Amino acid sequence: MRRAIFPGSFDPITFGHIDIIQRAAPLFDELIVAVLVNPDKHAAFSTERREELIRQVLPPLNVRVTHFDGLLMDYAAVCKAQAVVRGLRAVSDFEYEFQMAQLNRQLNPTVETLFMMTAPQFAYISSSMVRQIATLGGDISALVPAGIIPAVQAACRR
Ligand code: COA
Repeated sequence: MRRAIFPGSFDPITFGHIDIIQRAAPLFDELIVAVLVNPDKHAAFSTERREELIRQVLPPLNVRVTHFDGLLMDYAAVCKAQAVVRGLRAVSDFEYEFQMAQLNRQLNPTVETLFMMTAPQFAYISSSMVRQIATLGGDISALVPAGIIPAVQAACRR
């Protein structure tokens, strides 16, 4: 069973994340989209809501949506994943991702980190920008699927 984890905050999921999920899922028997429960990061959406929004926008692929806390490498061992998938949007993502991949390798050398280039049309998207634009009443239809726009607007409107 080839299993990979696509971890992240997904606060909220964007077209950039969906691009990576749709391209990574066929490469594995199962792709686990895992929402990080991070008490240090103030999230706009609860963990459960983030999971719901992800499920709402994903076509029925071989994808399981769930959440985790603690170390990603511990979680990978628990769910018997051989790989972690990360999207790279720009060179600026590289340094952080490189550091994480090296540290994760030290923690668990049996888990590979695989990087995929985010499609260029989504390379400028980030969840915090989506939240900021929604908060200020801007158009987010090019950034997140239509089905979750009302939820994002409701959570972000002041
Ligand atoms: N398309 C669009 N946006 C993307 C993207 C893509 N393909 N990939 C990342 N992003 C954006 C996200 O929207 C997010 O934007 P924001 O900061 O504006 O909210 C930002 O890039 C960060 O991405 P995200 O994937 O959510 O990463 P993260 O830094 O929140 O979490 C984890 C990364 C979950 C992998 C990491 O924190 C982790 O493993 N934590 C567990 C603890 C642990 O094991 N620590 C040791 C690690 S060495």
